[in-house]
Amino acid sequence: MSRDAASFDRLYREAGDPWNYETSAYEAEKYARCLALLPPRRFPRALEVGCSIGVMSETLARHCDSLLGLDFAPTAIDRAKTRGIPNARFEVAAVPQDWPEGQWDLIVLSEVLYYLSATGLEDVLRLIVDSLAPDGVCLVAGYLGPTETTLTARDVEALLLAALSADRPKHDIRRDAAPTWIAAAFVCGGAQSSGG
Ligand SMILES: C[S@@+](CC[C@H](N)C(=O)[O-])C[C@H]1O[C@@H](n2cnc3c(N)ncnc32)[C@H](O)[C@@H]1O
Repeated sequence: MSRDAASFDRLYREAGDPWNYETSAYEAEKYARCLALLPPRRFPRALEVGCSIGVMSETLARHCDSLLGLDFAPTAIDRAKTRGIPNARFEVAAVPQDWPEGQWDLIVLSEVLYYLSATGLEDVLRLIVDSLAPDGVCLVAGYLGPTETTLTARDVEALLLAALSADRPKHDIRRDAAPTWIAAAFVCGGAQSSGG
């Protein structure tokens, strides 16, 4: 199954930070290891899909000139805005339907793709491929434990990397994993363009 905005928003209204992103050492380590997969460069325009309450966004924004965080749960976006991250904007938006205009140097999808329906995922993959800059980077992370979703972290990561690889034959893929999560950074153009 996929999950809708209302059910996520209810979670945020009831618990504020339902997954303890603000306080969990596990989440902090996962965010740090995911961001360590990025090549050592700045990203002029970055997009974070499913940004939740903006905890990962705070660290991510340090690598970017500007960051747009999207989430379809208004309560999460309200909380993300209170962080006052100077180079970040947060908007209530559902993907694929509200995918933003323009080209992105970095697209981050952490623990979000498997909540989409099969057709929603197909549309999002096409939007990612079409809007990632020629030297762009796409970072994906997913939880391996039991979820109520039909799609798994391994499914969505494999589908994303296959879609990107088909469109950008020259690339590097950097990976990290822990017992409960996997992450990968797809770096268009390969090591030469990544600076690392
Ligand atoms: C499990 S949280 C992950 C939060 C954050 N990316 C992280 O890894 O810490 C998933 C988030 O994705 C959002 N989300 C799920 N499906 C979405 C969609 N189709 N469009 C926009 N946001 C979505 C949810 O509201 C929720 O805040």
